This record gives sequence, C-alpha cells and structure tokens, in this order.
Amino acid sequence: MVKKAELHVHLEGTATPALVRQMASQNGAMLDPTIFKSDGEFAWTDFWEFLDCYDKAAATIMTKDDYRLVTYDYLARCARENTIYVEMFSSPDHAAEVGMSYTDHLDGIAAGIDDARKDFGIEGRIIVTCVRHFGAERALAVAKLVTSTPHPYVVGFGMGGDESRFHPDDFSAAFHLMKKAGYQTTNHAGEFAGPESIRASLAALPISRIGHGVRAIEDNDLLEELADRHIPLELCPGSNVATGLYESREKHPFRQFMDAGCLVTLNSDDPPYFATSVGQEYEQAAKIYGLSETDLKNITRNALSSAFCDEELKARLLSRI
Ligand code: ADE
Ligand code: ZN
Repeated sequence: MVKKAELHVHLEGTATPALVRQMASQNGAMLDPTIFKSDGEFAWTDFWEFLDCYDKAAATIMTKDDYRLVTYDYLARCARENTIYVEMFSSPDHAAEVGMSYTDHLDGIAAGIDDARKDFGIEGRIIVTCVRHFGAERALAVAKLVTSTPHPYVVGFGMGGDESRFHPDDFSAAFHLMKKAGYQTTNHAGEFAGPESIRASLAALPISRIGHGVRAIEDNDLLEELADRHIPLELCPGSNVATGLYESREKHPFRQFMDAGCLVTLNSDDPPYFATSVGQEYEQAAKIYGLSETDLKNITRNALSSAFCDEELKARLLSRI
C-alpha cells in the first residue's frame, strides 16, 4: 500500500457520529438529534447546514481528554491506511465555545499525537485555524493566542469557514502576525468562491499553500501562475463532490491540475461528513484519474515537501516513501 500524507483535515470534523454520541453521553451534553440521519450518519444538505451540523457535533468535544481521543482515533484510522503524516487544523474558537482553554485544547491534541505515534508510528502536527465568518477581530485574537503560547507541535496558521464573508484584506493583520512570528500559513480559498478569492488571498495574505484552490480551474492565467510559483494546493475531491461543487469525482478537475503542472495533494477535509478518508481519496483518485503508483507516491512527496513541520522531520518522512 502506498504511503500517504495529509495536509488538510479539520480535527473537530474527524469525530465520527459514534464518537460524537459517546462524548455527548460522557459529558452529559444535550445533542440535537437533527444532526443525525436515520442511518446514524451526519445530516446536512448544503454547505451552510454542514457548518451548522459540524458546530453542533464539535460542541461535544468538551475536555482535554476528548481532544486526545478525537486525535488518537483519527490518527489510528489514518495509520491503518498507511498514512505516515497528518497536518491537522485545530480550532481554539470551537474549544472556547464549550469553555475550554487554549492550553487544554492543545495539550489534549498533543497527547493524542504522542499516543498515536507510540502505537502506530504515525506523525502529526497542528495548524491552528481561525473561522472566517467570526470576523477579523476574533482571527487576530487567535493569532495572538498562538504566538503568545508557543507549542512544538503547532507549525502553522490557517482559516476555514464561510468564504463568502469578509475579504482576505480583513485578515491581513492576523496572518502577518503569524508570519512574522515564524509560522507558515494557508487559507481556504477557491472552494465556495471563485478564482478571484484565490487571487485576493495571494495578494493580501502571506500564504505558503492554498486550502482547496480548486476553482482556479476557471481561470487559465491563475492556473498557470499557481503551477509556475509551485504553490501547493490542498485539493479535497471527495469533499467538493459531497458539498455539491462538482456532480461526481469524474467531473472534478483534479487531473487537469496535475496536467497543468500544479503541485497537488489529496486530502479528506472532514472525513465522516463527506464519507471519505485519505485512503479513499488516494484509491478513488487512482481509479478515476488514472494515477499510477508513481503518481500516488509523488502526491505524498508533494504533501511532505509542502508540510509546515521542521526540515528534519520532513527529511525523515520523505526517506520513508
Ligand atoms: N470548516 C470545516 N470544513 C470546512 C470546509 N470544507 N470549508 C470551509 N470551512 C470548513
Ligand atoms: Zn477545509
């Protein structure tokens, strides 16, 4: 089985319905029954309903040990698919919603990474994210929290949330603060907004990678620029199909990005919501886009060489491919 690496997954969005129910019960938390379908899977029909369902499920992660468990459970699943490295987005805003401190949130995730390394040999690092629709002030507050509380596993800063809200310029202070403090950054762009959102992010923010970026396919000049500048794209085909951006994996432009010479990676985004996993992404991409084993290995190399972790770890992981 090809070794895999993942750069784009939301930790709070990795908790399975079973784990969410378990945490809710342990914490005595009220759980809105409408977030589950009759088959037990998460219930949502469009991106905004997805975000709402995600927030309600994430609110069951209430303690440091819950964060450890969510992280460990996800990394265990990844290791079974021969994934050797995962860079996961964590959201202190979600932790704060349930009254958890940034330190507890972080310590829980770090314990999950340590336990998973010990049991499965998988490595993990954290990209702290802010939430775009919470606005610029809260984004800057998250950035200040991260820079004032350094942790060896926190290697970057990112932003998810509703891309139709606010402008990348509004988040310039937060991203530049992180960059100045030595962190690399990435931003969700060109998922629910068009190529202009990618251009605006590149102009306003010191980003090293783009989260999704898939809608660059609608702008040939931008596609060429992304290829020429070797800007890594955190592509998530299964997620894009699940949220209705493309009708099917066959209609997803993944192959066109590869053929244009872009630096592509394969990612699961929010696996239980989108009925996927990093292993599924590799398997489906091989089948549908006609990727060889060499292509898949190159995708893992792309991910590892674009990772935000330190060079020593990067070299060690690359030597395992
Ligand atoms: N937060 C969690 N998943 C997301 C996605 N696919 N896009 C934007 N924000 C998110
Ligand atoms: Zn995402």
